[in-house]
This record gives sequence, structure tokens and C-alpha cells, in this order.
Amino acid sequence: MYSFQDLGLLFEKRFTASLPFAVTPPTLYDPCRYILQNGGKRIRPVLCLMASELFGEISEDAWHGAFGIELFHNFTLIHDDIMDNAPIRRGHPTIHARYGLASGILSGDAMCAYAYDQIAKIKTGLPQVLSVFNSTSIGVSEGQQLDMDFETRNDVTIGEYLHMVTLKTSVLLACSLKIGALVSGGLGDTANKLYEFGKNMGIAFQLQDDYLDAFGETEKLGKQNGGDIRGNKKTYLYLKSLELADSQQRMAIESLLPESGDEKVKAMLALYNHTGADVACRQAVALYSEKAFASLDELAIPSKRKVPLVELANYLLGRDK
Ligand code: IPE
Ligand code: IPE
Ligand code: MG
Ligand code: MG
Ligand code: MG
Repeated sequence: MYSFQDLGLLFEKRFTASLPFAVTPPTLYDPCRYILQNGGKRIRPVLCLMASELFGEISEDAWHGAFGIELFHNFTLIHDDIMDNAPIRRGHPTIHARYGLASGILSGDAMCAYAYDQIAKIKTGLPQVLSVFNSTSIGVSEGQQLDMDFETRNDVTIGEYLHMVTLKTSVLLACSLKIGALVSGGLGDTANKLYEFGKNMGIAFQLQDDYLDAFGETEKLGKQNGGDIRGNKKTYLYLKSLELADSQQRMAIESLLPESGDEKVKAMLALYNHTGADVACRQAVALYSEKAFASLDELAIPSKRKVPLVELANYLLGRDK
């Protein structure tokens, strides 16, 4: 069995050696190669491969799934950066910033089609795979739309936040695991338990992403620090700070919403600290990680086969990028 580091390296080698894009027009395909060659943690494809390995050797179908999922993820990132007005991704200018808006929209569209092309190569259980992939794709769009809608709403609840992040982030992690299982003979209850593990891990992952967006370092993250604050994103940190604030702090938080620039970020971060929202966010990461590990425990697979998944989950939750 592979460790998650080894599987990551193996994926990287195979994936970057066989990028499927055409050449002309370069204004469409150069951006596709650009984002994929700028790195990324490759968590989702590795989850797919690990899920496959739970049932024996990694199957060729699992590789097609892994390629398709990473392409799909990168398509969502290209469009996400347009929507979030993000200047940097993986330490480099975002695609729309470097190549223009039209190239960002269209290279994202093309990458999505290339993702489906990979999924279509799967031979085992393709109807079930397509069903989970399609519902995931629709779910991500719903989650991303809610994320945008929340920017201008001031009554978002933590329940609504959890629903939104489940859709925009968790379902793709869960889908990666489920596809790896489905193409490798892991059916029914096993595939569903893996899906539950992925969903809770995905929530913990997005909570950590929000935390790092606020308190991480731009150089390590490869993304602009404080982007969520600048965009009035209704993150867990934001919602929890409002919940924990006294009336003066609440006024201060709300009065920052129409502001912009580095001063806004600095002032909001101080409020996250003073209200204890930062600590609450860390606790929420721990809570959803525990839920994830509980689903993994219930999985009827010998525990030593689950070790790489546990290692990967632990790495994700302690990460700084
Ligand atoms: C970023 O995902 C988008 C989220 C769902 C938070 P990753 O943090 O996995 O991004 P890369 O692929 O490693 O760059
Ligand atoms: C993005 O969430 C989720 C998807 C791409 C579907 P974020 O907007 O928080 O991701 P980052 O922080 O830009 O990577
Ligand atoms: Mg974003
Ligand atoms: Mg976003
Ligand atoms: Mg983020």
C-alpha cells in the first residue's frame, strides 16, 4: 500500500505527463496548462486512488477517476477566482488576472469538458459514477452560488454556512472517495460510509481553509491573505465572531463590511481574536474531523488498510497551505 505522500508523487508524475489539452488556440489552452503546472495539493485524486486501494490494487478506472476529478477541481478554481476577484492562486497570478476574463471563463469550460472525457473512460460502474459525478457538479454550483449570495446578506446562520460549504467543497471530496470505491468493487454501505467520511472531512477542510485565509501567510498559502474579509464572505470565523461579540464589538464588525483594503482586514482579524472566533473555528475543525474519523471507524475494512486515509486527513487538518 502507498503512503499518501507516495501516492501524491505518483499521481503528479502520471498526471503532468499526460495533460490532455490541445494546442490551438493558445489563449484557451495555455491557461489550462498554466494552472495545472503551478502545483496544488492533489488531495481529491489521491482520495480517489486511496479509496480504490482499500479494495486491492489501484485500478486503471480509479486513475481515470482521479484525472477527471482533479481537472474538474481546477475548473472550479478558475471560475471561483473570477467570482472571488482573487489575484493569486498557487503563488502565481490567477488566470483571469493574467490572461483576461474571457480566457478564464472559456478555459474553465474546456477543462470541465476534459474532466468528463476522463470520467467517460471508466469501464466499471460508469452509470453510478456518472450519477454521483453529475450530482456533485450540480451541488458545487449550488454551493458556489450560495457563497456569492451570502456576501450581500447579513442574516446568514451557521446552519446555512454548513449547508453551503457542504455543497461547495465537501461533496467533491466525498465524491472522489466514492468513485474510487465504486470502480474497485466497493459498493453500497461501504461506498456510502466513505462518502460520509469525505463529507465531514470536507467541512473540516473548508473550516481550515477559511481559518488560513484569515490567519495564514500569503507566501505559504499561495493565495491573497484576507480575501474572504475583503469579499464580505460569511465564513465561520465571521459568523462566530458576531455570535460571540458584545454589542460594541458587533457594531465594530458590522461597520467594517462597507470598508475595503488592508486596514479592514487588520481590524477584522483583531475582532476575530478578541471575540474568540479564532479558537471556536479551531474547535469546529476538530469536531468535524472527529465526525469524519467516526465514519471511517465504522467502515468494514481492516484498520491497517485505512492508515493512508487517516494520515491524509491528519495532514489536511494540520496544514498551513
Ligand atoms: C481550494 O482547494 C478550494 C477549496 C475547496 C477550499 P485546495 O486547497 O485543495 O486547492 P489546491 O488544489 O491544493 O490548490
Ligand atoms: C472554493 O472556496 C470552493 C470551490 C472552488 C468550489 P474558496 O473560495 O474558499 O476557495 P479558495 O480559498 O479561493 O481556494
Ligand atoms: Mg476563492
Ligand atoms: Mg469562493
Ligand atoms: Mg477559501
